[in-house]
Amino acid sequence: RRAFTVAIDGPAASGKSSTARAVAHELGFGYIDSGSIYRCAALLALRAGAVPGSGERSDVAGLVGRASIDIRTRLSPDHPAPGGTDTGRVVVPDVQVLLDGEDVSQAIRTPEINRLVAAIASDSAVRDTVLRIQQALAGAAETKSGAAPGGGSAPGGVVMDGRDIGTTVFPGAELKIYLDASAMARAIRRWDEMNRQMKDAKAKAPAASPEAGGAGGQDGPRAEGAAGQAPAEYPSVESIARELEERDYADINRKHSPLRIASDAVVIDNTSMTFERQVHAIVDLARERM
Ligand code: C5P
Repeated sequence: RRAFTVAIDGPAASGKSSTARAVAHELGFGYIDSGSIYRCAALLALRAGAVPGSGERSDVAGLVGRASIDIRTRLSPDHPAPGGTDTGRVVVPDVQVLLDGEDVSQAIRTPEINRLVAAIASDSAVRDTVLRIQQALAGAAETKSGAAPGGGSAPGGVVMDGRDIGTTVFPGAELKIYLDASAMARAIRRWDEMNRQMKDAKAKAPAASPEAGGAGGQDGPRAEGAAGQAPAEYPSVESIARELEERDYADINRKHSPLRIASDAVVIDNTSMTFERQVHAIVDLARERM
């Protein structure tokens, strides 16, 4: 049997990443966060001064092609052990992103990258290069997930989340999910997540002087920035909603592999669904098709 692929697509902040990580953990599959590859591309462009409008943009694909990008999943000590007694809870492993060996997990989730990434991701040469990276990472993750402890091998599988996984990257995926939620629910969740992370960051670094602008909104599970750089002001729900809306607009309206619902995708609107229920629904669908 060949490896099983779960493709999870949807708009910004629809819960794709944490859902995909929990589903991968439940199924014993590898996990690839494809947005973080585009975020690495944006970081490389930013560091090289090759941002849109600067005339240097065409080289971003080259920069990405020469870089080494790795995505590692690990269980933090706070998480219940896999297969442990805590079966009622859903385990969401942490993800670490390495760019040329540097841990950029936080650097790719700044307001600046949030604003830049959709423009970088609209470049077809960048998308072609990222596609090759996605396929290579998926191949490696499948092999690893299929390696049985005794030395044998099981079919294994991979969960990948993004915007065009079911339509372009893995059009033959065994299970395609389109995850959605109302714009307000997504903005409120992201706001809530950021506030929690900023509070944690402040609690960890009480003596640090608050700096770094608060407006604009940050994104993703590690929005707190480096220790000691907790933003002084919390962004408003409105500013986060605006940022998500702008990014979705760019992702839906770009020419190359825009955000679309694949014709054979299962659409899940999680506006009023618990996280656990949503994860179990996807895991059940995957098991039915294996
Ligand atoms: O998932 P995340 O919000 O981290 O993705 C960041 C950006 O990367 C998206 O807004 C989109 O512009 C781009 N992206 C994409 N195709 C994917 C995944 C992400 O264009 N498969």
